[in-house]
Amino acid sequence: MLSKNIAVVGTGYVGLVTGVALSEIGHTVTCVDVDEEKVALLKDGVSPIYEPELSELMKKNYEAGRLSFTTSHRIAFAGADAIYIAVGTPQNEDGTADLRFIESVVRNIADYITKYVVIVTKSTVPVGTNHHIKRYLEGETEVPFDVVSNPEFLREGSAIQDTFDGDRIVIGADTEMAATLLEEMNEPFGIPIFKTDVRSAEMIKYASNAFLATKISFVNEIATLCEKLEANVEDVAHGMGLDKRIGEKFLQAGIGYGGSCFPKDTNALVQIAGNVEHEFTLLKAVIEVNYKQQRLLVEKAKQHFGSLRGKRIALLGTAFKPNTDDMREAASTVIAEELVLAGAQVVAYDPIAMAQAKVEFPEAVNFAESAEAALDGADAAFLVTEWEEFKVIKANHYVKLLKKPVLFDGRNCYNLEEMKRAGLDYYSVGRPA
Ligand code: UGA
Repeated sequence: MLSKNIAVVGTGYVGLVTGVALSEIGHTVTCVDVDEEKVALLKDGVSPIYEPELSELMKKNYEAGRLSFTTSHRIAFAGADAIYIAVGTPQNEDGTADLRFIESVVRNIADYITKYVVIVTKSTVPVGTNHHIKRYLEGETEVPFDVVSNPEFLREGSAIQDTFDGDRIVIGADTEMAATLLEEMNEPFGIPIFKTDVRSAEMIKYASNAFLATKISFVNEIATLCEKLEANVEDVAHGMGLDKRIGEKFLQAGIGYGGSCFPKDTNALVQIAGNVEHEFTLLKAVIEVNYKQQRLLVEKAKQHFGSLRGKRIALLGTAFKPNTDDMREAASTVIAEELVLAGAQVVAYDPIAMAQAKVEFPEAVNFAESAEAALDGADAAFLVTEWEEFKVIKANHYVKLLKKPVLFDGRNCYNLEEMKRAGLDYYSVGRPA
């Protein structure tokens, strides 16, 4: 196979997974990050993020000499055939993407490249950004280069699996040479490759995330209707999903989407549309539905209790989804804030995201060392993240531990009949009460 020298800038979630995966298929990869502490950790074989299988693969390729870490752009870029940009594009106050980190990488590229290189943008950037990068570099260096958009579609918690078993690799290039090089470099993944132009590739990333977010808000609206009309959203989603044009995935009703991608990318796409004088009405509604959905459990609890003042609430799960310690834009934070505001005493527990929760949650929130300890003596439980260890809690366990057993399940984790039989007041999303 064609083995290349690759520099990956940014050892965050996307960068580290990309670097490790590229080394695993045989390339020689140097990951560069300005954060000295992080690079020191990585050199010691410690992954700064929790991601199944990542540490093992990182260690294996580091020991095989295919993967290294540095804080020096000069060292990383020397002799590189490709430079992957995988730095963050956080959200500005107005919802636009903050491109500060991208700009800084591009300045370093201008300073240190010495031979033809393909610059590959992994970070999610507004349509047109790669052309700006190209124009900027043309003014700064005589060294030939191409800029390629290669968006990532990894999910947190299954990033390694998604990398080796993804649905597609999108390569947006404006020259045949760059497109072919990227195609050859990615061939060992054995995943279908779709080649297109740079701007379309940039748009594919936003459109994909916006569409998935739309599916979630859509099914959540259907769930609300199901509650009012006494239908069951799980059966409705299943019946819809049997139609291959609709598909069964991403129709899980719940407390809305969170995480570092959907909220940020949907807001950014609304802004991108606004910049070309198009009001993206549909996507605005998707965002609004999600806002309401994240507050759904608290609303239900208010209706149940009348007032939440003084009520002790066990909050199970703080991560934005299972198998990650990530709490960015997690519904749990909104829920904790709303509960505290309503005068409730919140006791939270999460299998791995508790350290983050202690930073993100209001000070008034207490933390327990186990689900059992959180539930013990509480007036009600909120199931917020569908961790496996919560899914196996039996109905009679809730009955035993809670004062008067009331459970608000934001993820439809339990069997309706079983809950009813055990005598729980059980509220889920879009299913008969
Ligand atoms: C998402 C996309 O799935 C990836 O393809 C994409 O690469 C990534 O964003 C990104 O842009 O980097 P991720 O944020 O890791 O990945 O999480 P998802 O598994 O997609 O879940 C997002 C949110 O939607 C979670 O809060 C989850 O609970 C919620 N969700 C998901 C639902 O409420 N219902 C569903 O049916 C599916």
